[in-house]
Amino acid sequence: MCGIVGYVGGASSSLDAKDVVVEGLARLEYRGYDSAGLALVLEGSGDGPGLHVDKKAGKLANLRAILDEAPPPTTRTGIGHTRWATHGAPTDANAHPHLGAHGRLALVHNGIIENYAVLREALEAEGHEMASETDTEIAAHLLERRLDAGDDLTTAMQQVCSQLEGAFTLVAVDSQDPDRVVAARRNSPLVVGLGEGENFLGSDVAAFIEHTREALELAQDQVVTLHPDRVEVTGFDGSPAEGTRYHVDWDLSAAQKDGYDWFMRKEIFEQPRALADSLLGRRGLDGKLQLDEMRLTDGELREIDRIVIIGCGTANYAGLVAKYAIEHWTRIPCEVELAHEFRYRDPILTRNTLVVAISQSGETADTLMAIRHAHLQRAKVLAICNTNGSTIPRESDAVIYTHAGPEIGVASTKGFLTQLMACYVLGLYLAQVRGTKFGDEIADVMAELEQMPRHVQTMLDKAEDVYKLAHAHEDSSTVLFLGRHAGFPVALEGALKLKELAYLHAEGFAAGELKHGPIALIDDGLPVFCVMPPRGRDQLHDKMLSAVQEIRARGARTLVLVEDGDEGVARYADEVVYLPKVPTLLQPLVAVVPLQLFACELATVLGHDVDQPRNLAKSVTVE
Ligand code: M6R
Repeated sequence: MCGIVGYVGGASSSLDAKDVVVEGLARLEYRGYDSAGLALVLEGSGDGPGLHVDKKAGKLANLRAILDEAPPPTTRTGIGHTRWATHGAPTDANAHPHLGAHGRLALVHNGIIENYAVLREALEAEGHEMASETDTEIAAHLLERRLDAGDDLTTAMQQVCSQLEGAFTLVAVDSQDPDRVVAARRNSPLVVGLGEGENFLGSDVAAFIEHTREALELAQDQVVTLHPDRVEVTGFDGSPAEGTRYHVDWDLSAAQKDGYDWFMRKEIFEQPRALADSLLGRRGLDGKLQLDEMRLTDGELREIDRIVIIGCGTANYAGLVAKYAIEHWTRIPCEVELAHEFRYRDPILTRNTLVVAISQSGETADTLMAIRHAHLQRAKVLAICNTNGSTIPRESDAVIYTHAGPEIGVASTKGFLTQLMACYVLGLYLAQVRGTKFGDEIADVMAELEQMPRHVQTMLDKAEDVYKLAHAHEDSSTVLFLGRHAGFPVALEGALKLKELAYLHAEGFAAGELKHGPIALIDDGLPVFCVMPPRGRDQLHDKMLSAVQEIRARGARTLVLVEDGDEGVARYADEVVYLPKVPTLLQPLVAVVPLQLFACELATVLGHDVDQPRNLAKSVTVE
């Protein structure tokens, strides 16, 4: 939540800090879009030394309008922020940057400073006047006080961070020291972009991908100082430290819409490629599965006697699908739990428990706190993650990267499909190591998985039909989703997509649960998506078909997703979307695609901002 950008350029740099900051914010706006602001360090000429600060409630477009109307002078140093409000409403005054008491220092912040009330009281008692309701402003005052006392910004940041509790990324500039931008992080994301004669900061690499693909990952509780020609890292205690350098394996084009109206639609259509990439290099020359980033030994994996999968939102639904596959292939008991519920119920974990943390961003605070709790209980943690160098994989014992490329639309799509793929691969890998499946059985499933990009493409080729369906439901105020077995999480995911994008009442149910209550919701003309399991599992298929008949008899309008050739279902369906024939356990990969397309199109028709739905942010970095 919240996007942060920082830039410092040298004499040789041709970039204007304002442009770097605003373009960076545009690429990070998916992280929060309640307000936006920037601070530029002015250098002597024209307006004289000082800060140029603009900030405005609402989307980045509002800030851009101010900058267009009254363009600031060209500068070499700046910071910017796009906000998802926590403390204080999304107003101009609460927008970042915040200034110190005399306007010498500007600060932007992502996270929550938990002890801000005590600190604010103490500052106010000393006569400090606050201009906002934010927790951030107290840090600005504390920092500036240290600058006034003679510290440089780096030392001031080290000192102040030691006083703060909670989660924060802070980025600050001192108007009297234009060659320096200083940042700090604790439990909140921050990456350095390494340029030549200039350096960058961003909440993620998208902020500076246009300028450099060389990045520096920072650890917890570190302070980083950027000068045009160098980057220095220390701990909060001032001790020298080093970041981990890496090369970003995608470029600017991945962070652009490429002619699509929405990032989400682009990302839905990228799914065949994303799935193919997520499978690359998973099989060795001997045909056996290999997981490069698996840092747990075969011995450790053989001792696992229980798996707990944790995640939030869509990642949780990926876990629900994974449970069916992993238990079936490995016979290891597998539970799935919402990450934010996990640690508060004091779960029973041992050194033989494998906690699988699924997170596209790798920064979700609820999931991060859950894996820390798991570690305290001596469990092993494996992350399934899409974001290189993010906190969750860094703090895990092993990681499977999903290789989906950047996901910018707030609604997860390719993130979900590649999480499923990673879960399947993990299940098969465990089966291989533990010998619960023969090699040829594993190879057969892998061969099926390798066909999935083609099958997903088949679903995308039907997009226009799904769009028509969406248009026909423009006036619906409720849509239900039914599924069984691995189709149940698909129903949940279909409903989540519709809630978050179209702001409709949408619920997913296990079809078997209907008669225990939800069937009372069925009313004349109520649209209900029904995910039919493949016929291979006859009992499952027939039970689901009964559910379709039961709701139709009560007036529901049934929109049925069913595998090719399953013609018997058509007469109970008002609309049919045919799915390619795939094994039951893998069906979620194809069945969810029309539901993604439906939600994207319906939200578009309703005039909503699909990439930035109201009240949401891409990366939920506060608990
Ligand atoms: O980055 P994560 O996978 O940890 O994010 C988890 C959820 O916040 C995320 O899946 C959310 O539910 C999406 N908006 C769903 O589309």
